[in-house]
Order: sequence, then structure tokens, then C-alpha cells
Amino acid sequence: MYNTRKITNDLFLVGANDRRLSLFEGVYPVPIGVSYNSYLLMDEKTVLLDTADKAVVHQFMENVNHVLNGRKLDYLVINHMEPDHCAEIPEILNKFPEVKIVCNAKIQTMISQFFDFEIQENQLILVKEGDTLNTGKHELTFVFAPMVHWPEVMVTYDKTDKILFSADAFGTFGAIDGNIYADEVDFDNRYMDEARRYYTNIVGKYGMQVQALLKKAANLEIKMICPLHGFIWRKDLNKFIDKYMKWSTYTPEIQSVLIPYASVYGGTQNTAEILAAKLAELGVKDIKICDTSVTDASYIIADAFKYSHIVFASTTYNNGIFVSMENLLHDIAAHNIQKRKIAIIENGSWAPVSGKLMTDIITKIPNTEIIGNKFSIKSALKENQIEELELLAKAIVDTMEI
Ligand code: FEO
Repeated sequence: MYNTRKITNDLFLVGANDRRLSLFEGVYPVPIGVSYNSYLLMDEKTVLLDTADKAVVHQFMENVNHVLNGRKLDYLVINHMEPDHCAEIPEILNKFPEVKIVCNAKIQTMISQFFDFEIQENQLILVKEGDTLNTGKHELTFVFAPMVHWPEVMVTYDKTDKILFSADAFGTFGAIDGNIYADEVDFDNRYMDEARRYYTNIVGKYGMQVQALLKKAANLEIKMICPLHGFIWRKDLNKFIDKYMKWSTYTPEIQSVLIPYASVYGGTQNTAEILAAKLAELGVKDIKICDTSVTDASYIIADAFKYSHIVFASTTYNNGIFVSMENLLHDIAAHNIQKRKIAIIENGSWAPVSGKLMTDIITKIPNTEIIGNKFSIKSALKENQIEELELLAKAIVDTMEI
């Protein structure tokens, strides 16, 4: 049965949810699912904006056919060639062989990479930055957004209704539970953490490119944002755009301390917990501790973008960093996080080396400030080290704006 939603008199949401996917992109847990949004504009010409993931092909095609209600599809605009949005292009071409594909040159190249066919010249409308497509009442403008999240990405602006079809930008993890608008749900409490986890893990590396898109978007009058995942924004747009400004400039959201630790027999965990207690006694609020062997890295990366200070605590393992911490550190560095104040705790029962090795990775992160001296324990924290730990807590607090 079709499950479509009317957004305006001539714009419909025709995407679908996947609630069974365990790992988005094979990496990121999606415990509350994910939506693959696609939009169908029913103007004098009909326009489908992106398709959907192969997992939802049945629902997606049923939705498209229902809204078209016997009309032919005139245009398929492809904003992004990642398969969670482009996988149904063959289905659309099979069903509507006369549809014109609207895309840019990089997208054209990727079509032939992903599929065993090429779009014929007479079926292709290649667009450049700022080109427009008139569909009757509506005029669509194509704005390039390279690396948000792949190099071919563009976004589409409907000048008539002032709607930005933003591709991956402004999306969130999480299936759509009936309510399609962000203002219809308790977004801050239910979805902001997932929006941050989505942004930081998917496009967090490309802050400069997101900034470039935000600058272009600032020149457009935008009344509604329609992303490819999650909710449609029609109110409080600036609130979410402000978050994007922070995330894309690697500006912490809160002055507080995140403490990811890797501990085998509890000595490192105990030290992390006592440090957190000392920080709390000095007035730090909202401290967060997480076990890198338990908490998926994508959640810790999201928090790393949120928190101003991070204390990495790891035992030494196989003469290196404990594996879950080593993976996390490389992941954080790969996501280009910057401007963080970082302290290090190491453990090692006979030859502690994790502190030096962690520092080697962390110092490659741009604009990072290492706070205090490396704090080193052998197997377990001792009474005579408490004063040194208190000094580390004080050194951290001294660099906080609280
Ligand atoms: Fe949702 Fe970059 O694809």
C-alpha cells in the first residue's frame, strides 16, 4: 500500500523507512532506523528529486506510482549518487523510459560507474552551477555542494516555493514515525543526538565544504528544507543551521569533559571515574564517561564534536594502545575534528606506552591543545597519585570557559 505525504499542493514525500538495517553504510548502528527521502513535484512537468535505497524499492515505487496517478515522469533530478539515494534509478528508467535525467557531469560519470548503462545524450540534461529548470509553475536552480557528502553532490532550490532540497545536508538518522516535520516532534530531546551523530560521522570531515554550502544557502530565501534523510524543516530553520555552523567550524557546543576510556581489568576505568568526580567537584557539569569497548565509535565521535575537552584514557595492550581506543583515535583524527583541549591517561602493568602512542595520533589533529602532563598508572591508581590527578583536573578546569 502506498504511504505518501503531501508537503505542498504539488510536492509529495515518496520515500520510505528502513527499520531493520543494523549498520548504515556498513559502519553506523541505526537503532531507530533511517529514512530515505525522495520528493515528487507535480507541476506541468513531473519531477522526481532523487530515488531511494534498494532496501525500500517496493514501497518507494508504489509511492511514486500512486502520486503520479497515471501521469508520466518527465524529469529525474539526481542530487547525490550514493546508493542510498540512487539505487532505484534503474527501476525508474524501466518504468519511465522517456524520463529525462537532470544531473551534473560528475553525476553522469558516477551513473556509468555504478550501473552497466549510460544515459543517452537525448535523455540527459547536464546542469552547471546556477542553471535552472522550468517545470511550469516552478523554477528549480541547481547549486553545487561538493563533498557534502561526495564530490558530485548538488542541492536543488525551488525558487517558486523557496524550498531547498538539501541532499544529505540537514539530515538525521532515525525513521520517520508519521510526523514528517521537525516541528511536529520533540526534536531536541528525541533526535538532536542522532542528527549530530549523522552529521559528524557522515560529513563531519568536510567542515570547509559545509561552510561553503552554508554561505551559498545564506543568499537564498529558504522557507523549507527537504533533506534526503529525516525530517523536513519549515520552522526554526536557524536553530538547526546554527548547529551546522558550530559543527562545520568544529566549535564545541558545551564546555565540559568527555572521557572515553579503554580498560581491561578496571584500573583505567577507576582512574577515569575518579578524575570525573574531581572535575565535578570543581564545578564541571555534564561530564560524560564512555567505555570504548562498549560504546560504538560513532556515538563517541558525535560527542567529541559536542564537548570542548576530551580525556583519553587507555591501557597498554600488545605494546600498543588498546584496540578499541586505537580505532577510536584514528577514527576521530580521520573525521578532522579540531580545536579540542585534550588530556591523556595511560596504564601499563610493566611497560606503559599507550600515552605516547595516543599523543602521537592526537597531536596530528589540527589546533589541538594537550593539557597537563601525561598521567600514568601502573595497573591501578595509588593513593599517592591522587594529588597529581587533582592537579590534572584543575589544569583542565583552568582552560574551560565556565
Ligand atoms: Fe545519504 Fe551520502 O548519502
